[in-house]
Amino acid sequence: MDFELTDEQRLIKRTAREFTDREIVERARENARNHHFDLELVKKIADQGYLGAIVPAEYGGAGLDYVTYGLIVEEIGRGCSSVRTVISVQTSLVCSAILKWGTEEQKRHYLPRLCSGEWLGCFGLTEPDTGSDAANQRTRATKTDSGWLISGAKMWISMGDYARVALIFAQTDPALAHKGLACFLVDTDQPGFKPQPIEHKMGLHASDTASIALEDVEVSDDAVLGSVGDGFKVAMSALDSGRYSVAAGCVGICQGCVEESVSYAKEREQFGRPIASFQLVQGMIADMVLKTEASRMLVLRAGWLKDKGAPNTLETSIAKLHATEAAVECANIAIQVHGGAGYVDDHPVERYFRDVRVTTLYEGTSQIQKLIIGRAMTGINALVPA
Ligand code: CAA
Repeated sequence: MDFELTDEQRLIKRTAREFTDREIVERARENARNHHFDLELVKKIADQGYLGAIVPAEYGGAGLDYVTYGLIVEEIGRGCSSVRTVISVQTSLVCSAILKWGTEEQKRHYLPRLCSGEWLGCFGLTEPDTGSDAANQRTRATKTDSGWLISGAKMWISMGDYARVALIFAQTDPALAHKGLACFLVDTDQPGFKPQPIEHKMGLHASDTASIALEDVEVSDDAVLGSVGDGFKVAMSALDSGRYSVAAGCVGICQGCVEESVSYAKEREQFGRPIASFQLVQGMIADMVLKTEASRMLVLRAGWLKDKGAPNTLETSIAKLHATEAAVECANIAIQVHGGAGYVDDHPVERYFRDVRVTTLYEGTSQIQKLIIGRAMTGINALVPA
């Protein structure tokens, strides 16, 4: 594996960094304070090509590789995790699923609109009673003469209030367990599709999160993504991309924690000298650097495997587990370096601390990542009774 970035990758990373500093960092605090889902900013990231980075140009995307996509997501994640969530959901969970499983007609219909930001998409897998056990969908799809009727409820759906298209996972035949699941491309202006914002989150205040009631939502046969029965695989393959994106965003948070802490520690004086000169402060900075670099390498490895078309579920889970846990720890350490100043939102570390917490929960908890890793190492599925 070659860690050397190409000239093009370095340029794209630098451009994403400058864009983040110019457009995102400035607005992140105000948007978080005002709980504002910033559609104007979404338009700007779409215009940069960041909503369809891995989608081929023929479908309106930027046609980039996964490593380069990860570099962009890292930079955006350093600026604001709410904005990064838009990119992760739209690109990895929605576009990558349509790209992999869609018919030519579905790809031509949805991808250009999603890449341009004309439409937002959401990923309706999680339900009030179905989180880690994703195969156990309570939402039902019932066959009709002309298509399907979908009824149920979805929970914790990023962008559920703004999406124009929702990937809705539903059970078509409970007797078939996960092999009965189907994924439907649901236009959200259908009667019976009822999203509601979830309020009072700990973090990601500038990100939209919804619960969705589905009351006899009617869809046609050609709304099925993949085949009936493929739904679970559609979800898992999308999560292989989504977890990578979350991990890359967390490398950005780690990097932000290092940069903010170094800068603050060199300015802040105690005992007559900058706190950066104290060994215990340098120790905290070194701990953050270690976590950042290790996470970045794991994300690069997962991206490299994806670009080779090699199996990468294990390596993606390792990267997601490490980078999200590392970012939680870095945000905590960064506040320690900042002292009282880190406890208010004058410095981004306060927002990092609140925003990062969800990353070890969504797109598969740390415990689920450990079970995926454990199963790969032992060959034993800990979720199936012996
Ligand atoms: N790609 C394609 N297919 C896959 C796959 C992958 N990565 N992983 C598994 N599969 C296939 C398997 O090959 C198997 O196929 P067969 O039926 O043909 O044999 C099938 O799927 C079932 O696989 P498992 O036996 O591994 O399934 P499981 O029931 O044991 O579940 C699990 C495994 C890892 C626990 C899984 O349920 C899981 O990842 N759970 C966590 C769910 C999750 O991440 N939710 C996040 C919600 S989305 C979100 O947070 C978005 C948001 O809006 C913020």
